[in-house]
Amino acid sequence: MSYETITVGIEAGVATITINRPKVLNALNETVLTELTKAFRDLKKEASLRAAIITGSGDKSFVAGADIAVMQEMTPLEAKAFVDLGHKCMHAIETAFFPVIAAVNGFALGGGLELALACDFIYASKNAKLGLPEVNLGIFPGFGGTQRLSRLIGKNKAKELIYTAKILNADEALGWGIVNSVYEPADLLGAVKKTIDTILKKGPVAISLVKRVINDGTDLDLTSGLSLEALTFPVIFSTEDKKEGVKAFLEKREAKFIGR
Ligand code: CAA
Repeated sequence: MSYETITVGIEAGVATITINRPKVLNALNETVLTELTKAFRDLKKEASLRAAIITGSGDKSFVAGADIAVMQEMTPLEAKAFVDLGHKCMHAIETAFFPVIAAVNGFALGGGLELALACDFIYASKNAKLGLPEVNLGIFPGFGGTQRLSRLIGKNKAKELIYTAKILNADEALGWGIVNSVYEPADLLGAVKKTIDTILKKGPVAISLVKRVINDGTDLDLTSGLSLEALTFPVIFSTEDKKEGVKAFLEKREAKFIGR
């Protein structure tokens, strides 16, 4: 499948999705959002897919936000359609059955940080700059940032970041709990792939189910979240992978998971 504003490559069960509008620092217009949504819809049909990486083309920017130029003449109704498209795109990424890691290789501002927040976690390069500076434009984050960032780092820190439009460097974002790790730019993709290699050695069904339990469960109260965990846990006992994993441990050998 070929796209106008993104590239999608699949190698050994790992998809790399690159936002490719370097002239505008990979800003998200309707075409990028539509293509990303479509790409994830298609990737979800690939049963053999095990993980995905989202990054930006060039060495300056992951994604510098929603495309400000397209917002200039937007009516409220058009803004509603735009934000709905953004939400649909982030939802398509967040609900992938496989882990999706954001490799933030430069600016991740506004909709760019919101895109990274829809991934399972974020690795950043030392030159990354992250923030939700929408209030500088007289608007506020609309692709999930108000909710996903608050849930990730807490309401008060999210408010400080959003109200002040503060831009964090990579180490500050690490301290704020927004990114998991920081690397030299040349090492970023290698580090993401190394973590994915570790994940690929684990039981794919277990990874897929635990992702869902964490994502869905943390939006619930503790009792309901624990109940979701307790009710999902026995499902894994119906898999070949559970039999193999436990057997391999007892036989003191590495497990060979098949994803069933
Ligand atoms: N939308 C459209 N174009 C953008 C853009 C964006 N979000 N960010 C950068 N560009 C364009 C610039 O207009 C510029 O285009 P020209 O070459 O045609 O002038 C080009 O990309 C390069 O950018 P700069 O010359 O500004 O590069 P810089 O290194 O001087 O600055 C920057 C980089 C600090 C990221 C600056 O471009 C910037 O502040 N960008 C906007 C960041 C922002 O406000 N993002 C939030 C957008 S709103 C949003 O995302 C809403 C939402 O939640 C849904």
